Amino acid sequence: MVIVGNSIPQAATWLQNGFPVAIPTETVYGLAANACDPDALLKVFAAKKRPLFDPLIVHLPSLNAIVPYTQEIPPFAYALWERYSPGPLTLVLRKSKLLPDLLSSGLPTAGFRIPAHPIALDLLNAIDFPLAAPSANLFGRVSPTTASHVVDQLGDTIPYILDGGPCLIGLESTIIDLSGPYPVLLREGGIPSHQIEDDLKISLQRPQHTFRLPEGFAPSPGTLESHYAPIVPMECYHNNEELSTAIRRILLKKEIGWPNPEVEISERTPSLGMLRFQSDIPKTFRQLWEDSARGASLNVEILSQSGDLKEAARNFFAALRKLERDNTYILAEKAPDHGLGLAINDRLQRGSK
Ligand code: TXA
Ligand code: MG
Repeated sequence: MVIVGNSIPQAATWLQNGFPVAIPTETVYGLAANACDPDALLKVFAAKKRPLFDPLIVHLPSLNAIVPYTQEIPPFAYALWERYSPGPLTLVLRKSKLLPDLLSSGLPTAGFRIPAHPIALDLLNAIDFPLAAPSANLFGRVSPTTASHVVDQLGDTIPYILDGGPCLIGLESTIIDLSGPYPVLLREGGIPSHQIEDDLKISLQRPQHTFRLPEGFAPSPGTLESHYAPIVPMECYHNNEELSTAIRRILLKKEIGWPNPEVEISERTPSLGMLRFQSDIPKTFRQLWEDSARGASLNVEILSQSGDLKEAARNFFAALRKLERDNTYILAEKAPDHGLGLAINDRLQRGSK
């Protein structure tokens, strides 16, 4: 059984011996391994049940430490890291031969990030190799923001979890690809892309807004495929009208009892989980449910009572986990379409059917 502790020397020893260790970062918990050791990387892919075609990102404690693992660092990368590192920003650059092809799934590039969590930085400074660390969840599922979330999904397969408390940001890093002729936003994340554009007076290409990826850019599987999915079906809505339609349809079709072939939920009593951004659902909908759902429960999780996007982001994955644990269907309200709301909505979109 996995040990949950706060010993940096113990975590470092497991890593030096080629084992994966879950580590806290300011975004989400990562499943770390020596980025230069293909055997250790294979253990990360295996523990997460992650396909080998989905590349891992590399964590280092400083810009100087990143240099040897890249072919070159473009001036714009310096500008970005000067402004936002350590922090939730991953830059895709051409990698040097020190990083194995397994790490990058055969791509000539790799993602690099300097995490802001003090424990992650202490650990990175205590070892003499970079850490590859995808989020410490099973492939495609909801990311972990506490040590106990990691225990839930990976507790049987890894030896050690370094506990750094709940993650402050709660959403993964923003990923920008700088390996081509112009910067491309591959994933909305902890630093809103529009803030980066305003701060640095640049514009980022957004592949999801173009018909296809610009030539020379590798797809980022986490940005293009179904991801962050709860174990029960989830559906998103924008406003009360869409909510009304969804609730009425669910009441008619009893969709909330749908069994999911991947998990043992068919035994569960049907119940509806509601993810709300700021407020409880309007009384009329609760009344409608109580009148027509014949005892099926309705559970609401509110992300931020004050409507604060940072607080909502911090609570997001934990709320989704709670809803998937206690319900057979999730209806999720979209966050406002700006700032960190874009990153939340991106996760909601890709986590829904
Ligand atoms: O905040 C984060 O970034 C967290 C913490 C642990 O640092 N890590 C994380 O890793 O979210 P992961 O593997 O769950 O997501 C990284 C994404 C994946 O979707 C992967 O496909 C993409 O980055 N990626 C990695 N290397 C890439 C590359 N060379 N080119 C394009 N996309 C890449
Ligand atoms: Mg992930």
